[in-house]
Amino acid sequence: MNFDEIRALDEADPLADKRLEFDLPKDVIYLDGNSLGALPRTVKSHLSEVVTQQWGNDLIKSWNSHQWIDLPIKVGEKIAPIIGAAPGQVICCDSISVNLFKLLCSALALNSKRKVVLSTEDNFPTDLYMVQGVSDLLGEDLCHLQLVNELDIEQHLTDSVAVLLLTQVNFRTGKSLDMAKLTQLAHDKGILVIWDLAHSAGALPVALDQCEADFAVGCGYKYLNGGPGAPAFLYVATRHQQLVKQPLSGWMGHAKPFAFDPLYQASSNINQFQCGTPSVIAMSGLDVALDVWRNVDMLTIQSKSASLGQVFLRLMQSHQSLDDLTLCSPVDARQRGSQLAFSHNDAYAICQALIEKGVIADFRAPNMIRFGFTPLYTSFEDVWLAVSTLKEVVESKLYQAQRFKVASKVT
Ligand SMILES: Cc1ncc(COP(=O)(O)O)c(C=O)c1O
Repeated sequence: MNFDEIRALDEADPLADKRLEFDLPKDVIYLDGNSLGALPRTVKSHLSEVVTQQWGNDLIKSWNSHQWIDLPIKVGEKIAPIIGAAPGQVICCDSISVNLFKLLCSALALNSKRKVVLSTEDNFPTDLYMVQGVSDLLGEDLCHLQLVNELDIEQHLTDSVAVLLLTQVNFRTGKSLDMAKLTQLAHDKGILVIWDLAHSAGALPVALDQCEADFAVGCGYKYLNGGPGAPAFLYVATRHQQLVKQPLSGWMGHAKPFAFDPLYQASSNINQFQCGTPSVIAMSGLDVALDVWRNVDMLTIQSKSASLGQVFLRLMQSHQSLDDLTLCSPVDARQRGSQLAFSHNDAYAICQALIEKGVIADFRAPNMIRFGFTPLYTSFEDVWLAVSTLKEVVESKLYQAQRFKVASKVT
Protein backbone atom coordinates (compact mmCIF):
# COMPACT_ATOMS: atom_id res chain seq x y z
CA MET A 1 0.00 0.00 0.00
CA ASN A 2 1.29 3.44 -0.75
CA PHE A 3 0.55 6.78 0.86
CA ASP A 4 -1.77 7.88 -1.97
CA GLU A 5 -4.03 4.93 -1.24
CA ILE A 6 -4.03 5.88 2.46
CA ARG A 7 -4.95 9.45 1.60
CA ALA A 8 -7.77 8.22 -0.64
CA LEU A 9 -9.17 6.18 2.24
CA ASP A 10 -9.21 9.26 4.49
CA GLU A 11 -10.87 11.32 1.76
CA ALA A 12 -13.62 8.72 1.36
CA ASP A 13 -14.14 8.33 5.13
CA PRO A 14 -17.73 9.28 6.06
CA LEU A 15 -16.59 9.87 9.66
CA ALA A 16 -13.65 12.14 8.79
CA ASP A 17 -15.37 15.28 10.10
CA LYS A 18 -15.96 13.69 13.50
CA ARG A 19 -12.25 14.02 14.26
CA LEU A 20 -12.72 17.81 14.29
CA GLU A 21 -15.00 17.39 17.30
CA PHE A 22 -12.03 16.16 19.36
CA ASP A 23 -9.19 18.10 20.88
CA LEU A 24 -6.28 15.85 19.91
CA PRO A 25 -2.72 17.03 20.51
CA LYS A 26 -0.70 17.77 17.38
CA ASP A 27 2.19 15.40 16.64
CA VAL A 28 0.59 12.56 18.57
CA ILE A 29 -0.85 9.43 17.00
CA TYR A 30 -3.39 8.26 19.54
CA LEU A 31 -4.14 4.54 19.36
CA ASP A 32 -5.27 4.07 22.95
CA GLY A 33 -8.92 5.12 22.86
CA ASN A 34 -9.71 1.57 23.98
CA SER A 35 -8.17 2.56 27.33
CA LEU A 36 -8.96 6.26 27.61
CA GLY A 37 -11.01 8.04 24.95
CA ALA A 38 -9.83 11.42 23.61
CA LEU A 39 -11.27 14.74 24.77
CA PRO A 40 -14.35 15.97 22.86
CA ARG A 41 -14.09 19.76 22.42
CA THR A 42 -17.51 20.40 23.91
CA VAL A 43 -16.53 18.69 27.17
CA LYS A 44 -13.88 21.32 27.84
CA SER A 45 -16.27 24.26 27.61
CA HIS A 46 -19.17 22.45 29.27
CA LEU A 47 -17.13 21.40 32.31
CA SER A 48 -15.92 24.93 32.69
CA GLU A 49 -19.57 26.07 32.68
CA VAL A 50 -20.58 23.34 35.15
CA VAL A 51 -17.84 24.31 37.59
CA THR A 52 -18.01 28.09 37.22
CA GLN A 53 -21.69 28.75 36.69
CA GLN A 54 -23.61 25.72 37.91
CA TRP A 55 -21.52 24.95 40.97
CA GLY A 56 -19.76 28.27 41.57
CA ASN A 57 -22.71 30.57 41.04
CA ASP A 58 -25.92 28.59 41.24
CA LEU A 59 -24.69 26.34 44.04
CA ILE A 60 -27.17 23.85 45.47
CA LYS A 61 -30.04 25.21 43.37
CA SER A 62 -28.44 23.38 40.43
CA TRP A 63 -29.75 20.00 41.59
CA ASN A 64 -33.10 21.25 40.31
CA SER A 65 -32.35 24.17 38.01
CA HIS A 66 -29.64 22.33 36.03
CA GLN A 67 -31.27 18.93 36.59
CA TRP A 68 -28.19 17.40 38.20
CA ILE A 69 -30.52 14.93 39.87
CA ASP A 70 -31.65 13.55 36.50
CA LEU A 71 -28.15 13.04 35.06
CA PRO A 72 -27.89 9.27 35.74
CA ILE A 73 -31.12 8.60 33.81
CA LYS A 74 -30.44 11.21 31.13
CA VAL A 75 -26.94 9.89 30.43
CA GLY A 76 -28.21 6.30 30.53
CA GLU A 77 -30.77 7.17 27.85
CA LYS A 78 -28.03 8.65 25.66
CA ILE A 79 -26.00 5.45 25.96
CA ALA A 80 -28.99 3.17 25.28
CA PRO A 81 -29.13 3.50 21.47
CA ILE A 82 -25.37 2.88 21.21
CA ILE A 83 -25.86 -0.55 22.83
CA GLY A 84 -29.18 -1.48 21.26
CA ALA A 85 -31.38 -0.86 24.29
CA ALA A 86 -34.88 0.63 24.28
CA PRO A 87 -35.56 3.42 26.83
CA GLY A 88 -35.90 2.71 30.53
CA GLN A 89 -33.21 0.05 30.83
CA VAL A 90 -29.86 1.86 31.15
CA ILE A 91 -28.56 4.02 33.97
CA CYS A 92 -25.22 5.76 34.39
CA CYS A 93 -23.63 5.25 37.81
CA ASP A 94 -20.61 4.06 39.77
CA SER A 95 -17.89 1.91 38.19
CA ILE A 96 -18.14 -1.37 36.29
CA SER A 97 -16.85 -3.21 39.37
CA VAL A 98 -19.53 -1.77 41.65
CA ASN A 99 -22.24 -2.31 39.05
CA LEU A 100 -21.16 -5.91 38.67
CA PHE A 101 -21.62 -6.42 42.40
CA LYS A 102 -25.20 -5.15 42.12
CA LEU A 103 -25.97 -7.31 39.09
CA LEU A 104 -24.24 -10.47 40.30
CA CYS A 105 -26.22 -10.40 43.55
CA SER A 106 -29.45 -9.60 41.69
CA ALA A 107 -28.96 -12.38 39.15
CA LEU A 108 -27.97 -14.97 41.77
CA ALA A 109 -31.10 -14.13 43.76
CA LEU A 110 -33.26 -14.52 40.63
CA ASN A 111 -31.75 -17.93 39.95
CA SER A 112 -31.40 -18.95 43.60
CA LYS A 113 -31.67 -22.71 43.14
CA ARG A 114 -28.25 -22.60 41.46
CA LYS A 115 -24.91 -21.27 42.67
CA VAL A 116 -22.40 -21.39 39.82
CA VAL A 117 -21.18 -18.19 38.15
CA LEU A 118 -19.48 -19.29 34.95
CA SER A 119 -16.83 -17.05 33.42
CA THR A 120 -13.64 -17.21 31.39
CA GLU A 121 -10.08 -17.55 32.69
CA ASP A 122 -8.88 -14.49 30.84
CA ASN A 123 -11.85 -12.28 31.58
CA PHE A 124 -10.85 -8.82 32.81
CA PRO A 125 -9.66 -9.52 36.39
CA THR A 126 -12.02 -7.09 38.15
CA ASP A 127 -14.99 -9.10 36.84
CA LEU A 128 -13.56 -12.23 38.44
CA TYR A 129 -12.51 -10.42 41.62
CA MET A 130 -16.07 -9.18 42.07
CA VAL A 131 -17.44 -12.74 41.86
CA GLN A 132 -14.82 -13.82 44.39
CA GLY A 133 -15.95 -11.00 46.70
CA VAL A 134 -19.62 -12.00 46.35
CA SER A 135 -18.63 -15.58 47.04
CA ASP A 136 -16.77 -14.55 50.22
CA LEU A 137 -19.79 -12.57 51.32
CA LEU A 138 -22.57 -15.06 50.54
CA GLY A 139 -20.56 -18.24 50.98
CA GLU A 140 -19.63 -20.92 48.46
CA ASP A 141 -23.07 -22.52 48.83
CA LEU A 142 -24.68 -19.51 47.20
CA CYS A 143 -21.97 -18.33 44.84
CA HIS A 144 -19.29 -20.47 43.29
CA LEU A 145 -17.02 -19.16 40.53
CA GLN A 146 -16.20 -21.59 37.72
CA LEU A 147 -13.63 -20.55 35.12
CA VAL A 148 -13.30 -22.04 31.66
CA ASN A 149 -11.33 -21.36 28.52
CA GLU A 150 -13.00 -18.87 26.19
CA LEU A 151 -13.19 -21.59 23.51
CA ASP A 152 -15.08 -24.00 25.80
CA ILE A 153 -17.92 -21.79 27.07
CA GLU A 154 -20.72 -23.59 25.20
CA GLN A 155 -19.95 -27.05 26.56
CA HIS A 156 -20.06 -25.72 30.13
CA LEU A 157 -23.55 -24.24 29.87
CA THR A 158 -25.27 -26.79 32.09
CA ASP A 159 -28.30 -26.90 34.40
CA SER A 160 -26.14 -26.09 37.43
CA VAL A 161 -25.02 -22.66 36.16
CA ALA A 162 -26.93 -19.69 37.59
CA VAL A 163 -25.13 -16.82 35.86
CA LEU A 164 -22.89 -16.58 32.82
CA LEU A 165 -20.56 -13.58 33.15
CA LEU A 166 -18.81 -12.66 29.91
CA THR A 167 -16.88 -9.74 28.50
CA GLN A 168 -17.98 -9.44 24.90
CA VAL A 169 -14.60 -8.22 23.58
CA ASN A 170 -11.53 -9.70 25.24
CA PHE A 171 -9.46 -6.87 26.74
CA ARG A 172 -6.14 -8.37 25.62
CA THR A 173 -6.79 -10.02 22.26
CA GLY A 174 -9.81 -8.03 21.10
CA LYS A 175 -11.59 -11.29 20.18
CA SER A 176 -15.34 -10.84 20.33
CA LEU A 177 -17.91 -13.37 21.48
CA ASP A 178 -21.20 -14.06 19.72
CA MET A 179 -23.68 -12.35 22.04
CA ALA A 180 -26.83 -13.57 20.28
CA LYS A 181 -25.76 -17.20 20.17
CA LEU A 182 -24.31 -17.45 23.69
CA THR A 183 -27.26 -15.64 25.28
CA GLN A 184 -29.67 -17.99 23.51
CA LEU A 185 -27.73 -21.12 24.49
CA ALA A 186 -27.53 -19.92 28.10
CA HIS A 187 -31.26 -19.17 28.23
CA ASP A 188 -32.02 -22.64 26.86
CA LYS A 189 -30.38 -23.97 30.05
CA GLY A 190 -32.08 -21.49 32.37
CA ILE A 191 -28.92 -19.40 32.82
CA LEU A 192 -28.98 -15.59 33.20
CA VAL A 193 -26.26 -13.66 31.36
CA ILE A 194 -24.31 -10.56 32.39
CA TRP A 195 -22.38 -8.95 29.53
CA ASP A 196 -19.42 -6.64 30.17
CA LEU A 197 -19.38 -4.15 27.29
CA ALA A 198 -16.22 -2.25 28.32
CA HIS A 199 -14.60 -2.85 24.93
CA SER A 200 -17.80 -3.01 22.86
CA ALA A 201 -19.87 0.08 23.70
CA GLY A 202 -18.97 2.57 20.97
CA ALA A 203 -16.61 0.13 19.26
CA LEU A 204 -19.07 -2.08 17.40
CA PRO A 205 -22.84 -2.49 17.01
CA VAL A 206 -24.32 -4.06 20.15
CA ALA A 207 -27.90 -5.33 20.17
CA LEU A 208 -28.80 -6.03 23.80
CA ASP A 209 -32.57 -6.03 23.31
CA GLN A 210 -32.45 -8.02 20.10
CA CYS A 211 -30.24 -10.65 21.79
CA GLU A 212 -32.68 -10.71 24.75
CA ALA A 213 -29.77 -9.94 27.06
CA ASP A 214 -30.57 -9.96 30.78
CA PHE A 215 -27.97 -7.63 32.27
CA ALA A 216 -24.97 -5.63 31.09
CA VAL A 217 -22.34 -3.21 32.35
CA GLY A 218 -19.99 -0.92 30.47
CA CYS A 219 -17.50 1.83 30.64
CA GLY A 220 -17.79 5.61 30.16
CA TYR A 221 -14.12 6.41 29.67
CA LYS A 222 -13.10 4.26 26.70
CA TYR A 223 -14.98 4.53 23.38
CA LEU A 224 -17.61 6.82 24.93
CA ASN A 225 -14.93 9.45 25.67
CA GLY A 226 -16.28 10.52 29.06
CA GLY A 227 -12.83 11.25 30.56
CA PRO A 228 -10.58 9.53 33.10
CA GLY A 229 -12.66 7.66 35.67
CA ALA A 230 -15.93 8.67 33.99
CA PRO A 231 -18.88 6.85 35.54
CA ALA A 232 -19.92 3.51 34.11
CA PHE A 233 -23.38 2.28 33.09
CA LEU A 234 -25.55 -0.73 33.65
CA TYR A 235 -28.44 -2.31 31.75
CA VAL A 236 -31.28 -4.37 33.21
CA ALA A 237 -33.87 -5.76 30.78
CA THR A 238 -37.34 -4.40 31.55
CA ARG A 239 -38.69 -7.90 32.21
CA HIS A 240 -36.34 -8.30 35.21
CA GLN A 241 -36.71 -4.88 36.78
CA GLN A 242 -39.72 -5.64 39.01
CA LEU A 243 -38.25 -9.00 40.06
CA VAL A 244 -34.85 -7.96 41.35
CA LYS A 245 -33.68 -6.05 44.38
CA GLN A 246 -30.09 -4.91 44.19
CA PRO A 247 -28.11 -5.05 47.46
CA LEU A 248 -26.46 -1.60 47.50
CA SER A 249 -29.68 0.00 48.69
CA GLY A 250 -28.53 3.59 48.91
CA TRP A 251 -30.90 6.51 49.08
CA MET A 252 -30.63 7.44 45.38
CA GLY A 253 -32.20 4.08 44.48
CA HIS A 254 -35.11 4.67 46.89
CA ALA A 255 -38.56 5.29 45.40
CA LYS A 256 -38.71 8.66 47.25
CA PRO A 257 -35.23 9.70 48.38
CA PHE A 258 -36.37 13.07 49.68
CA ALA A 259 -39.12 11.59 51.85
CA PHE A 260 -36.25 10.52 54.16
CA ASP A 261 -38.20 7.46 55.20
CA PRO A 262 -36.15 5.22 57.54
CA LEU A 263 -37.36 2.17 55.63
CA TYR A 264 -35.80 1.39 52.27
CA GLN A 265 -38.27 1.06 49.44
CA ALA A 266 -36.67 0.40 46.08
CA SER A 267 -37.61 2.48 43.09
CA SER A 268 -39.67 0.32 40.77
CA ASN A 269 -37.64 1.07 37.65
CA ILE A 270 -34.01 1.23 36.51
CA ASN A 271 -33.44 4.04 39.02
CA GLN A 272 -33.23 1.36 41.73
CA PHE A 273 -29.71 0.59 40.51
CA GLN A 274 -28.32 3.90 41.69
CA CYS A 275 -26.73 3.90 45.12
CA GLY A 276 -25.34 7.20 46.44
CA THR A 277 -25.08 10.78 45.17
CA PRO A 278 -24.00 10.87 41.52
CA SER A 279 -20.61 12.33 40.65
CA VAL A 280 -22.04 15.42 38.93
CA ILE A 281 -18.90 16.91 37.40
CA ALA A 282 -17.69 13.62 35.93
CA MET A 283 -21.16 12.70 34.70
CA SER A 284 -21.63 16.11 33.11
CA GLY A 285 -18.48 15.48 31.05
CA LEU A 286 -19.82 12.15 29.84
CA ASP A 287 -23.20 13.73 29.15
CA VAL A 288 -21.87 16.12 26.52
CA ALA A 289 -19.23 13.66 25.27
CA LEU A 290 -22.13 11.46 24.19
CA ASP A 291 -23.50 14.18 21.91
CA VAL A 292 -20.69 13.31 19.49
CA TRP A 293 -22.69 10.13 18.76
CA ARG A 294 -25.69 12.00 17.36
CA ASN A 295 -26.27 10.91 13.75
CA VAL A 296 -23.56 8.23 13.94
CA ASP A 297 -24.55 4.87 12.55
CA MET A 298 -22.88 1.97 14.37
CA LEU A 299 -22.56 0.06 11.08
CA THR A 300 -20.38 2.90 9.76
CA ILE A 301 -18.29 2.65 12.94
CA GLN A 302 -17.93 -1.09 12.45
CA SER A 303 -16.96 -0.79 8.82
CA LYS A 304 -14.31 1.88 9.48
CA SER A 305 -12.96 -0.06 12.44
CA ALA A 306 -12.57 -3.14 10.22
CA SER A 307 -10.78 -1.12 7.51
CA LEU A 308 -8.40 0.56 9.98
CA GLY A 309 -7.47 -2.85 11.37
CA GLN A 310 -7.03 -4.44 7.94
CA VAL A 311 -4.83 -1.57 6.73
CA PHE A 312 -2.72 -1.82 9.90
CA LEU A 313 -2.25 -5.56 9.31
CA ARG A 314 -1.40 -5.12 5.62
CA LEU A 315 1.21 -2.49 6.44
CA MET A 316 2.69 -4.69 9.19
CA GLN A 317 2.94 -7.62 6.80
CA SER A 318 4.82 -5.53 4.27
CA HIS A 319 7.76 -5.12 6.69
CA GLN A 320 9.70 -8.30 7.41
CA SER A 321 11.37 -6.65 10.38
CA LEU A 322 8.02 -6.72 12.19
CA ASP A 323 7.59 -10.51 11.85
CA ASP A 324 8.56 -11.06 15.51
CA LEU A 325 5.41 -9.27 16.62
CA THR A 326 2.88 -12.11 16.69
CA LEU A 327 -0.75 -11.25 16.09
CA CYS A 328 -3.00 -12.36 18.99
CA SER A 329 -6.24 -10.92 17.59
CA PRO A 330 -8.50 -12.63 15.06
CA VAL A 331 -7.55 -11.79 11.46
CA ASP A 332 -11.24 -11.68 10.54
CA ALA A 333 -12.48 -8.23 11.56
CA ARG A 334 -15.99 -9.63 12.21
CA GLN A 335 -14.54 -11.61 15.10
CA ARG A 336 -12.87 -8.78 16.94
CA GLY A 337 -13.60 -5.45 18.58
CA SER A 338 -11.71 -2.31 17.55
CA GLN A 339 -8.16 -3.21 18.52
CA LEU A 340 -5.22 -5.36 17.47
CA ALA A 341 -2.85 -7.02 19.92
CA PHE A 342 0.59 -8.46 19.27
CA SER A 343 2.83 -10.47 21.56
CA HIS A 344 6.59 -9.91 21.77
CA ASN A 345 9.17 -10.61 24.49
CA ASP A 346 9.99 -6.89 24.56
CA ALA A 347 6.41 -5.65 24.13
CA TYR A 348 6.67 -3.28 27.09
CA ALA A 349 9.90 -1.65 25.89
CA ILE A 350 8.60 -1.37 22.30
CA CYS A 351 5.46 0.31 23.58
CA GLN A 352 7.46 2.80 25.66
CA ALA A 353 9.75 3.62 22.71
CA LEU A 354 6.69 4.17 20.50
CA ILE A 355 5.20 6.53 23.07
CA GLU A 356 8.45 8.51 23.16
CA LYS A 357 8.19 8.82 19.37
CA GLY A 358 4.63 10.13 19.65
CA VAL A 359 2.63 6.96 18.95
CA ILE A 360 0.49 6.07 21.95
CA ALA A 361 -0.40 2.40 22.27
CA ASP A 362 -0.46 0.37 25.48
CA PHE A 363 0.95 -2.75 27.06
CA ARG A 364 -0.90 -5.55 28.79
CA ALA A 365 0.94 -8.12 30.88
CA PRO A 366 2.47 -10.51 30.30
CA ASN A 367 3.72 -9.64 26.80
CA MET A 368 1.17 -7.82 24.64
CA ILE A 369 1.13 -4.48 22.90
CA ARG A 370 -2.35 -3.20 21.95
CA PHE A 371 -3.32 -0.74 19.23
CA GLY A 372 -6.82 0.66 19.58
CA PHE A 373 -8.72 2.18 16.66
CA THR A 374 -11.40 4.69 17.49
CA PRO A 375 -13.37 5.19 14.26
CA LEU A 376 -14.62 8.61 15.41
CA TYR A 377 -11.13 10.10 15.36
CA THR A 378 -8.51 7.62 14.12
CA SER A 379 -7.47 8.31 10.53
CA PHE A 380 -5.84 6.01 8.02
CA GLU A 381 -2.87 8.37 8.03
CA ASP A 382 -2.56 7.70 11.79
CA VAL A 383 -2.33 4.00 11.01
CA TRP A 384 0.29 4.59 8.34
CA LEU A 385 2.42 6.73 10.64
CA ALA A 386 2.04 4.30 13.54
CA VAL A 387 3.31 1.34 11.50
CA SER A 388 6.19 3.40 10.04
CA THR A 389 7.20 4.43 13.56
CA LEU A 390 6.93 0.86 14.81
CA LYS A 391 9.20 -0.26 11.98
CA GLU A 392 11.72 2.45 12.88
CA VAL A 393 11.66 1.53 16.59
CA VAL A 394 12.19 -2.17 15.85
CA GLU A 395 14.77 -1.82 13.06
CA SER A 396 16.87 0.72 14.97
CA LYS A 397 16.53 -1.38 18.17
CA LEU A 398 15.71 1.86 19.95
CA TYR A 399 13.47 -0.09 22.33
CA GLN A 400 16.52 -1.86 23.78
CA ALA A 401 17.58 1.33 25.54
CA GLN A 402 17.60 0.92 29.30
CA ARG A 403 15.09 3.75 29.88
CA PHE A 404 12.31 1.74 28.21
CA LYS A 405 12.67 -1.19 30.58
CA VAL A 406 11.52 0.50 33.77
CA ALA A 407 7.88 -0.39 34.36
CA SER A 408 5.58 2.48 35.36
CA LYS A 409 2.76 2.03 37.85
CA VAL A 410 0.15 2.24 35.08
CA THR A 411 0.96 0.41 31.84
C1 LIG B 1 -13.49 -5.57 30.41
C2 LIG B 1 -13.29 -4.58 31.53
N1 LIG B 1 -14.11 -4.63 32.60
C3 LIG B 1 -13.96 -3.77 33.62
C4 LIG B 1 -12.97 -2.80 33.60
C5 LIG B 1 -12.77 -1.87 34.78
O1 LIG B 1 -13.92 -1.32 35.21
P1 LIG B 1 -14.01 -0.25 36.41
O2 LIG B 1 -12.67 0.31 36.64
O3 LIG B 1 -15.02 0.75 35.89
O4 LIG B 1 -14.54 -0.98 37.58
C6 LIG B 1 -12.12 -2.70 32.50
C7 LIG B 1 -11.07 -1.67 32.46
O5 LIG B 1 -10.31 -1.52 31.56
C8 LIG B 1 -12.29 -3.62 31.44
O6 LIG B 1 -11.47 -3.59 30.38
